[in-house]
Amino acid sequence: MNPRFARALSFPFVALLLVGLPIGAILFASCSGAKAGSSEPAAALRERGRYLVEQVGLCADCHTPRDEQGRLQMDRHLLGAALPFQPKVPMPWADVAPPLTGLPGLDDAAARRFLTTGELPGGRRPRPPMPEFRFAPADADAVIAYLRRPQPASPPAAH
Ligand code: HEC
Repeated sequence: MNPRFARALSFPFVALLLVGLPIGAILFASCSGAKAGSSEPAAALRERGRYLVEQVGLCADCHTPRDEQGRLQMDRHLLGAALPFQPKVPMPWADVAPPLTGLPGLDDAAARRFLTTGELPGGRRPRPPMPEFRFAPADADAVIAYLRRPQPASPPAAH
């Protein structure tokens, strides 16, 4: 082969290599960086928490106020509510479900303990009708991550 022709032919390949390698390296670094970064797992944790709160635990049933027709007032989602129902027999009972947004008064450790054992700080337990949930620790962490910053517009599955 004519050496000048061979050189001319090899130029695009060398150029491709010179340009392509750094671009490839940058792309690889940014992809693996995104995987190792903290924002993606945090978002996934909150999304799981949203599912557990809005679709499994149905916390809104009691912790979100209702209008006169009994519809949940989503503009006050999880901000606490006076319960519109009572037991038929005398029993321990709480008439008010406190605000959940931000989990006021409970740090992460106390909230995790409550959601996994049903026990509040000082050995207190919530009165009925608050269900004593026993979330698995990883699920409790997801619920906490979501309740620190719930999305007011997210619709509950029920009602
Ligand atoms: C059937 C009604 C009902 C449902 C459903 C419900 N709660 Fe409650 N919750 C209550 C009531 C009522 C209280 C107040 C109990 C008391 O004052 O003794 C309460 C109390 C709490 C407290 C205690 C706050 C404190 O510091 O004293 C937390 C935290 C809580 N609920 C979280 C949740 C979460 C999270 C869910 C959903 C996974 C949920 N609740 C679902 C009725 C409910």
